[in-house]
Amino acid sequence: MEAMVNVFLFGKQYRVPEELTIMRAMEYAGYKLVRGCGCRNGFCGACATIYRIKGDRELKVCLACQTKVEEGMYVATLPFFPLVKEVYNIEEVKPTEQVMMQLYPEIYACVGCNACTKACTQGLNVMQYIAYAQRGEYEKCAEESFDCVMCGVCSSRCPAGISHPQVAMLARRLNGKYLAPKTEHLEDRVREIKDGTFNELIEALMQKSVEEMKELYNTREIEK
Ligand code: FES
Repeated sequence: MEAMVNVFLFGKQYRVPEELTIMRAMEYAGYKLVRGCGCRNGFCGACATIYRIKGDRELKVCLACQTKVEEGMYVATLPFFPLVKEVYNIEEVKPTEQVMMQLYPEIYACVGCNACTKACTQGLNVMQYIAYAQRGEYEKCAEESFDCVMCGVCSSRCPAGISHPQVAMLARRLNGKYLAPKTEHLEDRVREIKDGTFNELIEALMQKSVEEMKELYNTREIEK
C-alpha cells in the first residue's frame, strides 16, 4: 500500500500518495492543469505556488513541479503574478545608473529585508542582484540573476514593491547588448546565413519528415 498524505488544494481536502509533487498531486486529485505549468522541470517558472503546513505560521513558496506534498499542506497556486514591466527601446537606453532610476526607481526603496532571496524558488541571491542593479553593475546583476525563471515569487513578498525579475531582465539585456564581448563566430555565422551559404542545406532540411528530423537531431555532432 502506498503511503498517503492529506493535502488541501484550494481549500478542499484530498488524500494523495506521499511521493507525488504538488503538481502531480493536483492531477491525481482530478485537476486539469491548463495554466500554471509548462516545462515540469523547474525551468519555466509558471507553477509558482504558496503553501502553509497545518500548525505552522510560516507561509512558504515553491514551484509545484519541484516540491513534494506533505501531510497537512494547504496549497494555492499563482497562475500569474502581476509584475511591473516597463516598456523601453533597448536601442535607446544605455547601461548607465540613470536607466534604473528612470525605469525601476523602486529598487532604491529596498529595505534590505532579504525576503526576496528567502523566497526565490531557484535559490538565487535576489537581494544581491538588486544591489548590483542599484549601482549600475549590470554585468554582475546579469550573472547573479542568470537562472531566474520569472516566477514572481520574490516580488510577491517584497515590501518595497520591486519587480525583481523585470529589473534583472533589463540588466541582462543591457549586458548582452552593450557590455558583454561580442562572439565573433556567431557574427560570422549570421553573415554566412545572410549570404546564403546554407540555403541548400536548409532547403534539404525542409523536405525531411519529422521522423528524419528527430533522427538527425539525436545523432547530431555536439560541439565540444
Ligand atoms: S512546470 Fe515549469 S517551472 Fe514548474
